[in-house]
Amino acid sequence: MDKEKVYIFDTTLRDGEQVPGCQLNTDEKVIVAQALESLGVDIIEAGFPISSPGDFEAVEAVCKAVREPVICALTRAVKKDIEVAAQSLRYAHRGRIHTGIGTSDYHIKYKFNSNPEEIIRRGVEAVKYAKNFAEQVEFYAEDAGRTDNEFLARVVEAMIKAGADVVNIPDTTGYCLPNEYGAKIAYLKNNVPNIDKAIISTHCHNDLGMATANSVAGVMNGARQVEVTMNGIGERAGNTSLEEVAMILKSHPYLDLYTKIQSIQLAKTSKLVSTMMRMPVQPNKAIVGRNAFAHSSGIHQDGVLKHRENYEVIDPKDVGVDSSEIILTARSGRAALRYRLEGIGHKVEGGALDSIYEKFLKMADEKKVIEDNDLHLLIA
Ligand code: KIV
Ligand code: ZN
Repeated sequence: MDKEKVYIFDTTLRDGEQVPGCQLNTDEKVIVAQALESLGVDIIEAGFPISSPGDFEAVEAVCKAVREPVICALTRAVKKDIEVAAQSLRYAHRGRIHTGIGTSDYHIKYKFNSNPEEIIRRGVEAVKYAKNFAEQVEFYAEDAGRTDNEFLARVVEAMIKAGADVVNIPDTTGYCLPNEYGAKIAYLKNNVPNIDKAIISTHCHNDLGMATANSVAGVMNGARQVEVTMNGIGERAGNTSLEEVAMILKSHPYLDLYTKIQSIQLAKTSKLVSTMMRMPVQPNKAIVGRNAFAHSSGIHQDGVLKHRENYEVIDPKDVGVDSSEIILTARSGRAALRYRLEGIGHKVEGGALDSIYEKFLKMADEKKVIEDNDLHLLIA
């Protein structure tokens, strides 16, 4: 069976950039967009042009600076938003307008003080209007995660008929469980008559720590676009992280799915985004955290030194990290100490190793982490 492509839609510059303190100026947005292009993302959501003149200018600049990915601009289901987005995309090699409206009972009642039929009408009108301006139109059903599946299927069918090329099913509040979100996508696949005329997209938030799991469940049930951010940054607890989805699909070949992500650039792109957005990456963050390939307990260190795959499911080199690290702490064993001593040019075995190990444990209890300069002291 041929592998099927999963499109990577990166919203670091839109949903990610909404995080307080993460705002980027135009030049910074262009630098990040170029990095995302060389990373291999298919679609870059560059901003929400009506939100500010600065964001409009940034979307325009990204369109001029980037050739390969589709450039996307967000709008509400409002004509003025769509016109401004279209204007900001006029230099795009390929442009996409991402328009939509809330579809859950909460949004219909408390956000729009409206009713389901009116919501569908406004969505259809927005999609049709956007079609006049952009090569591609994506529709988002905001809070789809908490939207009744039957109504959601009606919304999605209406938007596809109105011309939507992509239908985005956001779990805006990060509420779904993976089986529920997967079932939602399967329901749409099975109950929307024209579903094969559009690509289904996932857009998951991480409020309950489920964003990546939900996105993968979506893909396993037929979604073929995943909306992600670098390092998982985004509103509140963040969005699905690009690096996690890319490596999950790459490390599970039996899923017969692939992305165009050049995984070797992940570590570098993660650092760039973290620096530009002034948003540190948590040390234990999967794939790109400082400790993602650091082993510190004796059992794991011994195992990984015998064979890397005893404790690593991906090769650090695949994501642009030179090698795993053996961190020396009071939980480390002789194998790790011997390995690190060899690294600084000292081959120590048997009784000699035992006596250095005793001194090492005392030092490690005090110092917590033992560095190379401490090892030199130990063997002096
Ligand atoms: O989380 C969400 O629902 C969104 C939409 C605007 C796509 O970010
Ligand atoms: Zn979002």
